[in-house]
Amino acid sequence: MRLTLAPMEGLTDAVYRQIHHTMFGGVDAYYIPFVTPNQNMVWHSRERNAIAPAVNQGIPVVPQVLCKDAALFLWAAASFRDMGYQEINLNLGCPSGTVTAKGKGSGMLRDAEKLRSFLETVCEKSPIPVSVKTRIGYADRREWDTLLPIYASLPLKEMIVHARVREAYYKGPVYPACYEAAVALCPFPVTYNGDLFTVSDVKTRFSASMPPASLMLGRGIFTNPALAREIRGGDALRLSELRAFEEALYDAYSQKHPANVVLGKMREITKYLSWCLEDADRDRRRMLKARSLGEYRDAVSVLFSSHPLKAVPSYMRENENQPWP
Ligand SMILES: Cc1cc2nc3c(=O)[nH]c(=O)nc-3n(C[C@H](O)[C@H](O)[C@H](O)COP(=O)(O)O)c2cc1C
Repeated sequence: MRLTLAPMEGLTDAVYRQIHHTMFGGVDAYYIPFVTPNQNMVWHSRERNAIAPAVNQGIPVVPQVLCKDAALFLWAAASFRDMGYQEINLNLGCPSGTVTAKGKGSGMLRDAEKLRSFLETVCEKSPIPVSVKTRIGYADRREWDTLLPIYASLPLKEMIVHARVREAYYKGPVYPACYEAAVALCPFPVTYNGDLFTVSDVKTRFSASMPPASLMLGRGIFTNPALAREIRGGDALRLSELRAFEEALYDAYSQKHPANVVLGKMREITKYLSWCLEDADRDRRRMLKARSLGEYRDAVSVLFSSHPLKAVPSYMRENENQPWP
């Protein structure tokens, strides 16, 4: 089974990808969070820092763009080719209001014919193969009946299906049947994404007659970094390696960023890692309140020394507050 790490802006950056790959592995490809090509057709330093081959050495990565303009997409594709990449992934899933208002990300799903024309153009002219990461609709899962035949008719390298609609953000229901319909119809590989947080999720989510060939894992791995290994039948997560992972990330970010940036990043990372720990709500809150690296390190030490691992570590939903109608 192919397992990939979902792109998560602000979370799965180059440092995270390198350290995860070294310490846990089990992931066949790491998707780089989206970069946005601009009218000047130059990458800004933030984007260069994410996609430069030098920061991604030794790990299989796929770059992703957030873009609705074919000329800019093709410029980005040529730039990726020049960097040595063999694929460009298009973000058709971002639910953010500021992104969809500009008609980008999942906003592109609102006009299926415009999307078809855009994809036909870029698939024909791109110097490297094009893949997409899409939701199953903007507001209603029945939109998939229109979108899926469009995707299936295109020469895509791969389609990743985040099997919920835009209006569900990261919280509303997932529809694995939409993914299974895509596998049946598409002549290219199709990957499932959405709410796979444990080995049991992987075993129970899909029809017994259609075991999935390819899965993309996001918050599940960000919470339990050993999840891909566990899905492959390897060792369960150990508390000592969770702690070592946090320390390695802390050291690497400390060498790269000022203290306030390190603090912000590490509080967010440790919030996810702490979902693996039993009964840790109070100490998690204390960690999240840390105002200096010293306070943060003290709080982390308490977290990891006071709480055993849960029997089944899993991402928790409490930290999500997006609406779902
Ligand atoms: C904080 C955050 C940032 C994300 N950034 C991106 C992104 O840059 N590109 C993208 O295609 N999806 C992005 N996503 C969506 C994830 O890739 C994935 O589709 C989503 O989290 C569902 O998978 P999961 O349930 O396994 O986490 C992001 C999700 C989160 C929570």
